[in-house]
This record gives sequence, C-alpha cells and structure tokens, in this order.
Amino acid sequence: MRVVDLLRLVRDNKDISGDELKSFIAAVAKDEVPDYQTSAFLMAACIRGLSSELTVALTEAMRDSGKVIDLSHIPQIKVDKHSTGGVGDKISIPLAPLVAACDVPVPMISGRGLGHTGGTLDKLESIPGFNVNLDIPRFCQLVKEMNLCLIGQTSDLAPADKKLYAMRDVTSTVESIPLITASILSKKLAEGIDALVLDVKAGRGAFMKDEASARELAESLVRVGQGAGLKVRAVITRMDSPLGTTIGNALEIKESLAILRGEGPQDSTELTMQLGAEMLCLGGVANNLENARNKLGAVVESGAGLDKFRELIEAQQGDPRIVDNPELLPSANQTTEVLSDRNGFIHDIDSYALGVAAMKMGAGRATMEDTIDPGVGIEILAKPGETIDNNQPIARLHHNRAVHGIRSEVKAAFNIAQEQIDIAPLIIDRLGSA
Ligand code: URA
Repeated sequence: MRVVDLLRLVRDNKDISGDELKSFIAAVAKDEVPDYQTSAFLMAACIRGLSSELTVALTEAMRDSGKVIDLSHIPQIKVDKHSTGGVGDKISIPLAPLVAACDVPVPMISGRGLGHTGGTLDKLESIPGFNVNLDIPRFCQLVKEMNLCLIGQTSDLAPADKKLYAMRDVTSTVESIPLITASILSKKLAEGIDALVLDVKAGRGAFMKDEASARELAESLVRVGQGAGLKVRAVITRMDSPLGTTIGNALEIKESLAILRGEGPQDSTELTMQLGAEMLCLGGVANNLENARNKLGAVVESGAGLDKFRELIEAQQGDPRIVDNPELLPSANQTTEVLSDRNGFIHDIDSYALGVAAMKMGAGRATMEDTIDPGVGIEILAKPGETIDNNQPIARLHHNRAVHGIRSEVKAAFNIAQEQIDIAPLIIDRLGSA
C-alpha cells in the first residue's frame, strides 16, 4: 500500500491490516519514509486513536525494528518491571535484587531521568565505577549466571521507538495512549522477557495526572502486552507526594540499601514488596501474593537480597563496599534544613515541585545534555499524615550550589493544615494477569 493511502485510512479511522502497519513501521525504521509522512501518521494516530489490534501490530513492528534479545536458553520465566516514572521512585533498585534472590531472572533495561523525574541509570551511576553500558552478550550472561543485570537502552533495541519518540516530542503527539503503549512495550519486549509488572502512576508528580487517565493507560498496556504474548500485571499507584524519603541519586541508593535491610520508609518498602510479590507470582515461584510477600520477607531477613545487590554491583564494576559503607557514596558539601513555619498536620507534599527543586539543585536534567551532580538532593523529614511543630525541620537539602530560592520552593511544597486527614492508600488498583 502507498504511504499516502495508509495515512488516509488512519486519518479516517478505517481498517488497515496489522501487516500493512508493520510494513510502514519497518520502512520508517529504515529511513525510507520522509519525516512529513511519519509525522502525519503520528498526528492521525494521536487524534483518531488506534484499535488494540493495530496497537499490538505497532508494538511488534517497533520491537522488530532492531535486535530482540533471546533469553530462551534460560528456563525460568523472565520478569521485568516498568514504572511510568515519578519523584523519588527508586523502587527498581531494591526490587530487582530481591526478586532475583527469589530465583526469578530479572533482565532490566532502564532509562535516564529527564525533567522532574529521576532515572534508574543515573541513580546506579552514583555508585562509584558502576557500568550500565554492558553489551548484550554480557547482559545475557549475567542474567543467566546471577538472575540479574541492569543496563541502559542500546541503540540497536527498538530503534523505531527512538525515531518516533523524537518526532512525537516536536509534533505534540506524546500524549497518545496507543503511542505511549507501543513505545513502552516495544522496548520491554525487545529484552526477551516473558512477563512484565507495570507500575502506572497517577497524580501531579506523574506522567498521567489523574486516576482516570492512569487507568486508561494501564488497561491499554495490559491488553496490548497480552496481545503481544506477555503475561502482564499493572498496578496503579498514587504519585501526588514523593515516594520514600529521598530525591537525588546517591541519596536514593542509600534509601534502597535501607529497604534491602528491612529498614526503609514505609511507603517505598510497601511498594517494593507489592511489585516484588506481583513479579514472583508472574515468575511462577509463588501462587499468591501472601506467599510471595513471605518469600521476599525471608530474603530481606536473611540478607540474601542485600548480597544479590552486592553481587550485581561487583559484576557491573561498581564499588561493592558501598553496601556496608554507604558513606562511600558521593555526598554534597553542604546541608541546609527547611523548617516548618506553623504547627499542624502534613496533608501532602507536591512531588512535582520537589522534583523540579531537586533538578535545579543538580540532581536531574532539564535537557538530555545536562550533567548530574550525584551527591545532591532532598531528604524528606516529615511525611503526609505526620504532626508538625512550628520550626521543626521538614526537609534537608544536600547541595553544592546556593539554595536561597530552592528553600522557599521546598517549603511551599509541604501542604500543612490544621486538621488531621486520612492518607489515601498508595496502591489504587491492580489489573491484568493473575
Ligand atoms: N515512556 C516511554 O518509554 N514512552 C512514552 O511514550 C512515554 C513514556
């Protein structure tokens, strides 16, 4: 079919076959389609939507635009987790070793942070020496030998996504459920996994600002993921306030170590256990969530999760001494406390505002070219639901630059009111495979 005819059919929401869409995407990936026609496709798909069947075809075509890792020689069910991104979301870091320690292989390919959200790769790179740029054969070897490897996206995995994402960014077509679905799943399918747990976040610090749109995305990810042959579980979680008690790369590694020791904050520990339990169930080593949580609890208790993290750091050329000695992680030159200016109860903490404040301090990037300062960030000293006194510290800034403006931004992010409220549960819903 001529591209112009395919564009007309997508524009008019008329039927095209999955194979026709696949041929078009293959041609896009090979640079055989001019950018104006690719942009027209994106706009038509964004405005008119794509059926589930066509979204599956798009996802598979994007997956097949590059290398697809073959992990079929590893007999167990390989499971990964993807989060749609939030502030203080370091969950992959304690989660992956805990799940791997329960004998579920975790081949994890992660991303970098941009804007108000951080990225797993940047956090891992705050560990001195840690190498996230291993090649695919070494990645496969580590997954086979130790059930675990954490690397960055390589240019030969789902290259069509890179091209389409760059074009979506400049054509106002990022906010399209089918395009987001295909973008996320094509990269995950290229990892060679069998099952995927998705943490779809809802709230002002998240990509999806409200529960209804997070649910729509979660439903699409489950439907399309299953259509492409994966076992998929989506968990919708709240992202109005930051997760855990740290925002910033090395600070989040310290919190991850605390979670692995069973001494982490309540919310980040709870989410690690919930997502981990979902992964163990999909991985076939537990038959229900309670049984899975008990297994995860046992590897925290025995220290096997912490040992697995140490093993991972060593295998990826990082300094494993940080596990017992977190002071070896980079740190900022100065700390400054932010004080409450009233008595009351913390209702919520604006995660978007804190994410932006941490980015301005150097913990994140405004553009992909910015460099990260690994030691800086924000420690949250009081969480929603807690009582607070006038002049009590609510946050601690770890910084290398002046923080005059940042202090007031951080203070303003804490919503302190006179009456106590019930804090809404972190986990909103679960969808998909049992
Ligand atoms: N994350 C992705 O990988 N792709 C999108 O389109 C949106 C979020």
